Amino acid sequence: QTHSIPVITIDGPTASGKGTVAHRVAHQLHFHYLDSGALYRLTALSALRHEVPLNDEHGLAKVAERLPCRFAGDQIWLGNENVTSAIRAEEVGNTASKIAALPTVRHALAGLQLGFRIAPGLVADGRDMGTVIFPHAVLKVFLTASVEARAERRYKQLIDKGFPATMEDLLKDLRERDARDSNRAIAPLKPAEGAHILDTSHMTADEAVEQVLKWYAAVKKQS
Ligand code: DC
Repeated sequence: QTHSIPVITIDGPTASGKGTVAHRVAHQLHFHYLDSGALYRLTALSALRHEVPLNDEHGLAKVAERLPCRFAGDQIWLGNENVTSAIRAEEVGNTASKIAALPTVRHALAGLQLGFRIAPGLVADGRDMGTVIFPHAVLKVFLTASVEARAERRYKQLIDKGFPATMEDLLKDLRERDARDSNRAIAPLKPAEGAHILDTSHMTADEAVEQVLKWYAAVKKQS
């Protein structure tokens, strides 16, 4: 029955604002929300904690398969620990980006992601939501922004959360991560076929949300 449950995919590079936009779109439509990046971050955090080496593909896949994670509203749990802020640390994001290049890890997390497709609908954000996980989504959006705009947003986020950050380091990190996410052999970051491209460099989150909702209203009318 799940094929009749609408899915909106919002993919894009790191710090493009897709998390905020996807979350708000889900809220407006009363849809569920999947932050697929969080699953890669949870796997990374768990691997770091258990000292699983980043070249141990089999060990990392096991971590991903047995991830004791729970999403409760906007809070994310790993076992008994609330890791909502811990998974946002740059070290965890960078490790996530590295292990996300491993097919075994992606495979282990795919089933988990499909399980988020629950009525009345799902908004899924990530890198490959429209290309790999939900290729038949009713609406696919590719959200992007200049690397400078994204570094600035990430800088504000990190400072607000009390993490140390400099613009110079962030620009370097973002460029490296973009290259890694876009050039990997499996499920690289790229717009899905038929995706609407939304450049948010000069847009507020609310304006981006409004555009996505307009597109969704249009596809709903057609179907
Ligand atoms: O969106 P994010 O920054 O929280 O994602 C963290 C890393 O996880 C990102 O660098 C690449 C990876 N990722 C992925 O490969 N596929 C997804 N669908 C989501 C995230």
